[in-house]
Amino acid sequence: PNPRPAALLPSSTVHPTSTVVTGIGELTTNDPGLGILHDAAVVLEADRVAWVGESAVAPAADVAVDVGGRAVLPGWVDSHTHLVFAGDRTAEFEARMAGEPYRAGGIATTVARTRAASDEDLEANLTAHLDEAVRQGTTCLETKTGYGLTVEDETRSARIAARHADEVTYLGAHLVPPGADAESYVDLVCGDMLEAVAPYAGWADVFCEDGAFDEVQSERIAAAAAARGLGVRVHGNQLGAGPGVRLAVRGGAASVDHCTYLTGEDVDALASSATVATLLPACDLSTRQPLAPARRLWDAGATVALASNANPGSSYTTSMAFCVATAVLQMGLTVREAVWAATAGGARALRRDTGDGAVGTVRAGARADLHVLDAPSATHLAYRPGVPLTWAVWRSGERER
Ligand code: NIG
Repeated sequence: PNPRPAALLPSSTVHPTSTVVTGIGELTTNDPGLGILHDAAVVLEADRVAWVGESAVAPAADVAVDVGGRAVLPGWVDSHTHLVFAGDRTAEFEARMAGEPYRAGGIATTVARTRAASDEDLEANLTAHLDEAVRQGTTCLETKTGYGLTVEDETRSARIAARHADEVTYLGAHLVPPGADAESYVDLVCGDMLEAVAPYAGWADVFCEDGAFDEVQSERIAAAAAARGLGVRVHGNQLGAGPGVRLAVRGGAASVDHCTYLTGEDVDALASSATVATLLPACDLSTRQPLAPARRLWDAGATVALASNANPGSSYTTSMAFCVATAVLQMGLTVREAVWAATAGGARALRRDTGDGAVGTVRAGARADLHVLDAPSATHLAYRPGVPLTWAVWRSGERER
């Protein structure tokens, strides 16, 4: 393929700390006009991509890095994590691997540990997991509250998350806390708790599932959050076919996450909506559920994203590469589709896929987020599953490894 130069900025805009990354063997841009480029280069200026094109004609910059023919992708966009928590759930995991089913009630164990933790401990745990994710190529990460479940604990979770994550989601509707009356708790989630958390969050989410919140309660919570100006996402169809997808599509949610058990009507509804189907393969595996029907959704025309769902209960991994390999090897997506879903798909789920500073893409004006693989092509992500392939990462223009 012939690399095409694109969008060279006027030299007057060159930033003093520009970097030119040359010698890219295969560049996945996720830009329909650029496609996949070979022998390519990218110029980063401050926190933006300034130029993308042929390596041989790349403009000079303050710093030059030759990646020696390696493959470069946009950084992973992990659009679904739960990283404000304390403790782990090793015993629950062991019991599950011995045949116990996953139950939403396990969330209460982490709620107790999270409430008992200091702000400093919660923040240190969050940043340790975020660093772990970035070292593996994640450059944009959403995280949620949901292990506090009091006004005070949800607010501090959101406040801590807002210091570090790209996107913060309010998930007071994760579980009715043990001992609480469900209807009074929904009142709180839609009232004082929402008011207190909203200044720190861009999104609200509800776990619409048997054992968590039913359709009527979920709809009320989503409507209250939307009225307060938050974008809406839904945890749906994780443990059985239920109303989550219907509710999300009907309410114009940005995404419905899990989508493990879908009816034909659910697939059709997603295919004809702007609601992204965010699939969480590590969670499906770790809870011994079937894998979500990625191929069916893709073929029907739904927008598919892949995310880690990093949390101590149902999916304790920050590895987007593992999710991509699983999506290819076990869920029927091609490597190109899976990489798109874990970058541009996640960006779409977070509504960060367009305009200045877009993520999940490498084009002039996008955020300077690059993931260099120690491999000649993205295919190696599935061809060499489990092998740590991240060679270098730029996040918002900063070299992270
Ligand atoms: O996305 N489904 C609900 N919430 C998390 C699980 C959290 C937990 O088990 O602690 C999820 O899987």
